[in-house]
Amino acid sequence: MVKKSIIVSLMILFINSYLALANNNCSKCHKNTHLNGKHRDIGCIPCHPKTEKHYSNIFTFNNNNCLNCHKEYENIKNSVMHTRIKEKYQVEKIFYKYDKNFFNKNCAKSCHINSCLDCHEYNTKKHDIDLPQTETCLKCHNGYFVGTDYVGLGIKDDHERYQIGKKLHDKYYLSMLKDIHYEKGLKCNNCHDMISLSKGDIATKRCNECHTINTDIIEHSINAHIEKMECYACHSSWAPMEFGTFFIQFINSKNKKYFRWLTEKNDEYVKSSYFITNSEPLLAKNKKDKYSPVRPQFIYFFTKIVNNVPVGKENKLLAANWKTFFPHTIRKETVLCANCHFNPKKYVLQKDKDRIFLPEKEGLELTNFYNSKNQNIINGKFVTEKEFNEKIKISTKKYKRLYLKKINELYNVLNLIDKNQ
Ligand code: HEC
Ligand code: HEC
Ligand code: HEC
Ligand code: HEC
Ligand code: HEC
Ligand code: HEC
Ligand code: HEC
Ligand code: HEC
Ligand code: HEC
Repeated sequence: MVKKSIIVSLMILFINSYLALANNNCSKCHKNTHLNGKHRDIGCIPCHPKTEKHYSNIFTFNNNNCLNCHKEYENIKNSVMHTRIKEKYQVEKIFYKYDKNFFNKNCAKSCHINSCLDCHEYNTKKHDIDLPQTETCLKCHNGYFVGTDYVGLGIKDDHERYQIGKKLHDKYYLSMLKDIHYEKGLKCNNCHDMISLSKGDIATKRCNECHTINTDIIEHSINAHIEKMECYACHSSWAPMEFGTFFIQFINSKNKKYFRWLTEKNDEYVKSSYFITNSEPLLAKNKKDKYSPVRPQFIYFFTKIVNNVPVGKENKLLAANWKTFFPHTIRKETVLCANCHFNPKKYVLQKDKDRIFLPEKEGLELTNFYNSKNQNIINGKFVTEKEFNEKIKISTKKYKRLYLKKINELYNVLNLIDKNQ
């Protein structure tokens, strides 16, 4: 009897020391690779499977070594962050006729996720995987791509003379008001978590999951505002907007050098914009039929130059596509009533006589960037002239009464300030 248990004990001892040896096997040669955090007990092999030569150190989605355990997030492989299908589809539809390889030349190299480590950065010191910080998301979510607005960075023109000021990831920015949530210490993660990102949902946490509506506020007391508008139609303080993007393709043309102060996309292309603003958002209706901020996604003009001579029309308008979106620039203060109710430009309905830009004088096919005529929205619809006149430009008793109440409130605030001074 005794003998048997000794044998079992010896066997256990043997197995244990074998396992210890196997682990020592790594640490004998690899210092500082002990694991902390949640992966402490899983050993080395699940993440670094054996290869012919040694042990793997590759963590792309295809490799699956993270997904083997975290199967619930498998679907992140189908996310637009990885596939970029939305972008590809738009770009190819527009440029295919002119340059079949436009996407590969101009877009393929830019950011997309290919590995868990793109967001969960590897921390050398701890030898562990970090949870993403806001900064991690901004590696890709910058420039004309929702993200840097959250931390108060506005976009700039491509011309080299604007390349001064605040710099992040090799791009220069304008200092703008930060999102209140950023100021209060909220990260992207507070509203976008792993479950929603891998499911392909745009966000986990909506405004009303953290806030209750204070109906003492005049604007909040109007049902139409709460029912028909996204909260951020009022509370987005500014939005980066690019009106008109010029792509010039040079083939066998030395005169490309005269465009050297613009962004060099690659050997063939330069890019520039008609104008850029970081200003009060414009409004349209999104897919949920709610009023939402909207901005030009791609208003593309294209010129092809071969042997230093333009081929076909210069600055040909290829698309005038807009997109409803959520600028991450939330502040408490909003614009005043009249700015929304008596301002056609807010709904991209500016009259030609009120323009300051005259693009047709420069040979462009679009006469007014701030008028939705001949432009379209890829994920919603513009407010029509009729809707504006009937539903928004209202001088009802209710409107006037509430407007006066608002003015009165502001007046009281002013009095209070005066008294305190
Ligand atoms: C006999 C010494 C030795 C042992 C034991 C050993 N390694 Fe290595 N390993 C090396 C050397 C040498 C390199 C190359 C180092 C370098 O390039 O910096 C390396 C590289 C690696 C790399 C990086 C590979 C790359 O492509 O960059 C990983 C991951 C790795 N080892 C994992 C392991 C794991 C896991 C174990 C244990 C199961 C282990 N190693 C055991 C010597 C060893
Ligand atoms: C949760 C997964 C995970 C586990 C478990 C894990 N590693 Fe790593 N390891 C990584 C990641 C991620 C990297 C960084 C890869 C990169 O930068 O491309 C890495 C890098 C390494 C490297 C390359 C050198 C370095 O530190 O940059 C070595 C060597 C290594 N690991 C050894 C080990 C050993 C030994 C163990 C077991 C004690 C282990 N790893 C356990 C994920 C893991
Ligand atoms: C052998 C299985 C296994 C592998 C392989 C593995 N994990 Fe984990 N991971 C776990 C377990 C278990 C936990 C802890 C879960 C818990 O506590 O709910 C965890 C937790 C995490 C966490 C949360 C950490 C925290 O501090 O809350 C992250 C992020 C993570 N893993 C990412 C990765 C990534 C990225 C890889 C690939 C480099 C990877 N995991 C590979 C099993 C694994
Ligand atoms: C686009 C960025 C992004 C990518 C890519 C990404 N994650 Fe995450 N992950 C997050 C965010 C954001 C969180 C939430 C962090 C927090 O709660 O602070 C998170 C949390 C986690 C957690 C812990 C919390 C939980 O909800 O279980 C695990 C585990 C995890 N990720 C695994 C993975 C694995 C495995 C991969 C690769 C297949 C991956 N992640 C790729 C952004 C990403
Ligand atoms: C390596 C690059 C990269 C990183 C890092 C990254 N993203 Fe993305 N993200 C993308 C790309 C590419 C898209 C798709 C853009 C498109 O389709 O127009 C995207 C889209 C999104 C979307 C919209 C999804 C949809 O269905 O439309 C959200 C939300 C998002 N990212 C959040 C995050 C958050 C939060 C982080 C940080 C935890 C993060 N991303 C980190 C590249 C990245
Ligand atoms: C994850 C929870 C969360 C979500 C989701 C959220 N908020 Fe907040 N919000 C906060 C916190 C926390 C503060 C800071 C509160 C404070 O310090 O008084 C804040 C502050 C604000 C403020 C400023 C309040 C003040 O008194 O100055 C406004 C306005 C606001 N949020 C609007 C929104 C809108 C609009 C949305 C949806 C786009 C939203 N929030 C989504 C948590 C959240
Ligand atoms: C029609 C415009 C409008 C809409 C739509 C709107 N708000 Fe407001 N909101 C305001 C105004 C105006 C204030 C008060 C600003 C001030 O006091 O300076 C305010 C104040 C707030 C505050 C500050 C805290 C407080 O109670 O004093 C929060 C939080 C807030 N709104 C959240 C929301 C959320 C969540 C939604 C969507 C359900 C929303 N708002 C929709 C105009 C709007
Ligand atoms: C207070 C909550 C909150 C925070 C913090 C937040 N987001 Fe969002 N985000 C949202 C909501 C809500 C939406 C979806 C809006 C909608 O569809 O109505 C969204 C949408 C997006 C989108 C899709 C943009 C579009 O409308 O096309 C991207 C990309 C994104 N967020 C990235 C980020 C990044 C990167 C960060 C950090 C820099 C971040 N978000 C921080 C709530 C938040
Ligand atoms: C950010 C833009 C915006 C601001 C600021 C704003 N409104 Fe509105 N308001 C709208 C929109 C859009 C509608 C809905 C039109 C529709 O029905 O389609 C609306 C609807 C209304 C209605 C109609 C409600 C009904 O019962 O039919 C009244 C009244 C009104 N607003 C009054 C005001 C007053 C007073 C203020 C200032 C205290 C104000 N609004 C501020 C955009 C705004």
